[in-house]
Formats: sequence, C-alpha cells, structure tokens
Amino acid sequence: MLPTEAYKWHCLEEQFFKLCRSYNFQEIRTPIFEDAELFVRSVGEDSDVVKKEMYRFVDKGGREVALRPEGTAGGVRAFLEHGYQNMPQPIKLYYYGPMFRYDRPQSGRQRQFYQMGIELFGTQDPLSDVEVIKFTANFFSGLGFENLELRLNSVGCQSCRPSYQEALQGFIRDKGELLCRECRKRSHSNPLRVLDCKVETCREALTDIPYIDQHLCPDCRAHYSAVQEHLVQQELSFQHDPLLVRGLDYYTRTAFEFISTHLGAQNSLGGGGRYDDLVELCGGPSLPGVGMAVGVERILLAMEKEGLLPEEPAPSGVFVALRNKEAVGWAQRVLYDLRKIGFRAEMDYMERGLKAQMKQANRGRFRFVLIVGGEEALGDGMVLRDMVSGEQKELSYEDAVQHLTGAQPMVRRERQ
Ligand code: HAM
Repeated sequence: MLPTEAYKWHCLEEQFFKLCRSYNFQEIRTPIFEDAELFVRSVGEDSDVVKKEMYRFVDKGGREVALRPEGTAGGVRAFLEHGYQNMPQPIKLYYYGPMFRYDRPQSGRQRQFYQMGIELFGTQDPLSDVEVIKFTANFFSGLGFENLELRLNSVGCQSCRPSYQEALQGFIRDKGELLCRECRKRSHSNPLRVLDCKVETCREALTDIPYIDQHLCPDCRAHYSAVQEHLVQQELSFQHDPLLVRGLDYYTRTAFEFISTHLGAQNSLGGGGRYDDLVELCGGPSLPGVGMAVGVERILLAMEKEGLLPEEPAPSGVFVALRNKEAVGWAQRVLYDLRKIGFRAEMDYMERGLKAQMKQANRGRFRFVLIVGGEEALGDGMVLRDMVSGEQKELSYEDAVQHLTGAQPMVRRERQ
C-alpha cells in the first residue's frame, strides 16, 4: 500500500472504527503468528485453510508456528489466556490486521490480506447474531454499497449435523465418479465441504444434493427462524442459501456472507457466523460466540468496480515558502507554530527557488502558500496565496493565522 492508495484505506478504517465505537466493540490485538496447533484445532484439520493454505514452519526453538490465516482463533486464545470467560458476558471485541493464506494469487485473493473483524462472546441469543449481521450491513452501506447480497444459512449443531453428514455421505456414494477425487475423499473426513466444491462437474452433480434444512434439530430450527425474523424486522433483506457452509470448520448454526455481484470468483466481501463450540475446543468452558470478518483489499476492488471509491482529499494545509534565504529562521518559527496549532504544514529543505517551491506546494496538495521574506513582506508581514482560487493577500502573521483558521474545517479535518 503506497501513499497514493492510503486515503482509500483510511476511509474504510474510519468507517470500521466509528461503527466499533457506536456498537460498543473493544479493540484486541493478537500476534501475527500463533501455535500452529491452535488453527488445526479451531479452523479444522480438514479445512483447505489449514490443509493447503497455512504458512506453517518450525522456529529456532523447535516450536511449530503458523502465520494466522484468520483472526477468530487468536482472539479466542487470548480471551481464554486472560480469563475473559470469567468476566460478565457478553464480551465484544474487534480487530484489524494482516492475515496469511498460501493460495494461488488472483484478483481479490492475496497471500497477505487485511481483515477487519468483530467477535461477540457469551450468548446464544439470536439478537447477537443479528447484531453482528447488522454491523456488517451498516459497514457496507456506510461505504456506499447498495446491491450486496446477504446469504444466510444455518449449519446446525453437534446434535443435528451427524444425520446430515450421513445423508451427504449417501449422496456422495450414489454420485460416485461424477464427483471429483477430492470430494470423494471428503466424504469421510468432512462431507460438508462437498457443498463448497468449485469444480464444474461437481457443481453440476450437486443439483439434487440434500439440504441441511430437513436435518436441523428443533433448537437450531427455532434459532434460525428467530434470526430471520429479527432481520426482517430490521428491514435487512437476505437470501437463504442452503449450500452456504463457509471454509472454516468451527461454525455452528448461523453462517452468512455478503456477496458482491461485481466481482468474479472471489466475490465474498465478508462473512462470519456462530461458533458455539469453539471456546470449548480451544480448552475453555462451553461458551458461545458469533462474529464476522471483512477483507479490505477485496472491498476496495469492489468499490472501484462500483465507482464508490472516495475522491482524493481536497488540497489542505499550508506550505511555508521562502522568498530569500535570510528569512529561513522566521519561516521555521512560522512552520512549527502552524503545526502546533493544528495545521498540516510543510516547507522546502532543498534551497529551491520560489517558483519550484510553488510547484512543490501544488504537488503536495497544499491549499495555501505562505510566502515569507522579500520586499512585500515587511516586519512580520507575509503573502498568503490560496492555491485553489489563486487569490493572494499581504498580511501580518497574526492575520494570516486568522484567515487560515477561518478556512480551518478544510485543513483540520484531514487525517495526518
Ligand atoms: P473468511 O470468510 O475466511 O472468514 O474471511 C473473511 C473475509 O476475508 C472474506 O470474505 C474475504 O473478504 C477476506 N479474505 C479471505 N481470504 C482472502 C484472501 N486470500 N485474499 C483477500 N481477501 C481474503 C474468516 O476469516 C472468519 N474468521 C470470519 C469470522 C469471524 N467468523 C466468525 N468470526
């Protein structure tokens, strides 16, 4: 990410942090690498993320570590290590940082990518699922997205999933050679993954695959209905997608994804769901949770395709230009003073002529140039030039500051 791209990232970051504050999520920062076993246990030994995509290596101390492929497992590990399970629930956490998955890079899929995520621990109440989904919807609508599809499913729980897995295994057996080798192998280890296979022949063979809907236990069914009812009440439209299983194995009940119809294969801008067994799986008590993560680079791609990228910030701040070398001390005082009172301010350190300094100010997108020294500037006088209107005035420093402060919203609002 280079400076010319930074303002786009800032726009996503501001939107995310603002929502975290208003939804009352608190920040957590976890290490970029963890014990590899943590991901094996939580994300799932048979998931593609662990089996094929995890950066895994042995460190000098002989420990097997992995670059985090996602943020939930590290969050749960930290949660338990610091006794959060014994605190009043629910606990609401958010995080932002790089994740790593070794896959074939393509548009919208990198080996290092940034996720923003939230996790809500301690309750199974459908309202908490809706809280996470609503947050995600608000995040996307705040960025200007209007046509994202929200896909929703329930992937059941420990008590109803075995019967579904059995049904899937029967289906896989019946389809035999019509399915790819990987899917036939998955029949034993992780039959749910078959729903997610991208191989064309498999997709064709899946048309009459059994859905989980018929296998949900009464509790999961009631939970899923309640989530849907709340979403309707919140006027959030969604599409029930019985094939949605997601790529990580820790999900129970609610699973969801926000899909952009403007991207190709990598069209999921964000997703998440409930993980009621994960805390226990990581060595803690039985404590439910629900969360989601969005992918920054992919969102920016979609924003570009939909014409939603923000414009480059308008020129702002003050460039202090020197008409002659003698005024350098005075110019420096002015520069540091302007910064102290909150302006973005800059000057030339390369003994450029006035014309070159004006060009530098333009390149740096400064709104004003304050020309110090020279004949026009008597005493503490200086010339203030508005680079947008071209207007130019002789002023004392005090009046110049007052003038700049009048134009302040444009100057100060900018992120440094
Ligand atoms: P995930 O669906 O694997 O979920 O990833 C979330 C988002 O990260 C995706 O929707 C996508 O935007 C982005 N993403 C994933 N892989 C890549 C990649 N290789 N390149 C670019 N972007 C990518 C999770 O990671 C879960 N931890 C979400 C969650 C939190 N569930 C519960 N809590």
